[in-house]
Amino acid sequence: MKDITCIADLRALARRRVPRAFFEYVDGGSYSEETLAANRADLTQLKLRQRVLVDVSERNLATTVLGRKISLPFILAPIGLCGMQYGNGEILSAQAANEAGIPFILSTMSVCSIEDVAEATRKPFWFQLYVIRDREFSRDILARARAANCDALVLTVDLQVLGQRHRDIKNGMTVPPEIRLKNVIDVATKPRWAWSILNGKRKTFGNLVGHLKGAESVTQLSKWVSAQFDPALNWKDVEWIKSVWPGKIIIKGILDVDDARTAVKLGADAIVVSNHGGRQLDGAPSSISMLPAVVDAVGSDTEVLFDGGIRTGADLLRALALGARACLIGRAYIYGLGAGGKRGVAKAIDILKSELSVSMALTGVNAVESVGPQVLVNPPPRTSAYGKA
Ligand code: GLV
Repeated sequence: MKDITCIADLRALARRRVPRAFFEYVDGGSYSEETLAANRADLTQLKLRQRVLVDVSERNLATTVLGRKISLPFILAPIGLCGMQYGNGEILSAQAANEAGIPFILSTMSVCSIEDVAEATRKPFWFQLYVIRDREFSRDILARARAANCDALVLTVDLQVLGQRHRDIKNGMTVPPEIRLKNVIDVATKPRWAWSILNGKRKTFGNLVGHLKGAESVTQLSKWVSAQFDPALNWKDVEWIKSVWPGKIIIKGILDVDDARTAVKLGADAIVVSNHGGRQLDGAPSSISMLPAVVDAVGSDTEVLFDGGIRTGADLLRALALGARACLIGRAYIYGLGAGGKRGVAKAIDILKSELSVSMALTGVNAVESVGPQVLVNPPPRTSAYGKA
């Protein structure tokens, strides 16, 4: 991987190595992909303030989230079907996160199960929950997450109904992959991927099959969501989840100040400002454009995390500058996984770490904990959204 110098290189390599349906599942967004594009465009609109002649010989990239120390201000986001990018993808990513001293979040819609990841890792990971209609299943999966010693629960609230991803439909994306002529040709040209998947522990939704009746027969994520996810989920259910999960709760998918306030009122230990990486409500504003107002409204009462469009260390610095305590990275590490398994994930983490460190040095800051709007040339007003919708 010596010619890989940035996340864009990992993406290019993943595109060559991962079958089209799975690459595009991760890479794409919903509908016209306006929000997907806005996430990136609005981040790059924030210009960093070049400062000179500050002693930056020592830089501290560590911070705390939920009172726990993390070595870098980012976390591996929950990714559905992570283990279809590379065999045992969830295990390998969790191990790379462990080694870097940052949390890994396992998705409900993962390929490796909670138990698989717990068995293969030494440090606790976080578990992400989608609430489905069968509450007994939700209760049971939370008990499994507790038994696996999961450190925190990430409750995703922006995907009760799936935003359509045109590319998934056109590619006929299923889990496990369907044998169709065009898939066969695609897979035949992706031998590393095929080998890793063949040797992987599982080839389907590991948290669901064997725990939920009929799970074996559903192969399309979109069918899962419409058949199983609970569109009636509402704020009252957060209280129910709190009653069955005694640990820390992070509410992910907040893009609105009123929702942020409600989440805090209901006792969220942290929230994630997110539009699901431009994969849900297309036409929603970029995630970064909503961060200042949310931080202004609830930042003194809860920890505000951020995701949406992070591809460089400069992007991390931008989000920290606007008040994010830490960022979740999704595609940035998944490209690494698809490009080279665990080594690729470690490479993605390393790239972001060194880019952040240099961006901090050149904006004259020594510690993540002292990053603020002072590193920006054009800090937006805290009370309002900014950028183009
Ligand atoms: C699932 O979380 C997805 O965005 O596909």
